[in-house]
Amino acid sequence: MAQNLEVKVPRAKIAPSMLSSDFSNLASEAKFIEECGADWLHMDVMDGHFVPNLTIGAPVIKSLRKHTKMYMDCHLMVTNPMDYVDEFVKAGASGFTFHVEVAKDNWQELIHKIKAGGMRAGVALRPGTPVEEVFPLVESQEPVDMVLVMTVEPGFGGQSFMPETMPKVNALRRKFPLLDIEVDGGLAPATIKQAAEAGANCIVAGSAVFGAKDPAEVIATLRQGVDAAQTSSIFFK
Ligand code: DX5
Ligand code: ZN
Repeated sequence: MAQNLEVKVPRAKIAPSMLSSDFSNLASEAKFIEECGADWLHMDVMDGHFVPNLTIGAPVIKSLRKHTKMYMDCHLMVTNPMDYVDEFVKAGASGFTFHVEVAKDNWQELIHKIKAGGMRAGVALRPGTPVEEVFPLVESQEPVDMVLVMTVEPGFGGQSFMPETMPKVNALRRKFPLLDIEVDGGLAPATIKQAAEAGANCIVAGSAVFGAKDPAEVIATLRQGVDAAQTSSIFFK
């Protein structure tokens, strides 16, 4: 089984969070971070209700789309994600990740709408939400493409990584070897080993990347962390 592991585990995707970039220069920040080796742009959408902070919405995604072809990984920290799907499709979003806590009754319809619009669907969970709540969304006939395990309380960049969320990542990786599993909050060279060894392959990092002297070096270090964990057989021990 171990010989097949490298081809079976989804590859590393490093997604700098634009929340920590200079919002007044989003287009040049996106270009810069692409040149630094980033795979995705992580776009944090907050409504001031699901989380106590207000950031950007579809109009900003639409403006930025005119300046970049990069994959825009949109993380919707909003109470009513269904109301935003059409707008995000039109704006040119690539991935649409909603929170399971606000989609208990309509997740099937939501996934369908996201995918019908040509976006990849993701589901996120807060640190206090049990991982079992997202299993049906991965096992569904029309499943999500990614699970985002929050490693801080959503709302702000620059918080400390919560290691107690790692058993959730590990439970997902053991159950779903091919799934894209994203971690978000407090990821940095000091915490990547824990997250990658638990099974995460999509790494969001805001302050660690944009606050670094050499963002390209941090992106490379995060990628190496994922690659190193994947070459071991740790998920199957
Ligand atoms: C927090 C956001 C994160 C945040 C991560 O609610 O979802 O994407 O920008 O920032 P860092 O990497 O600084 O913790
Ligand atoms: Zn995020």
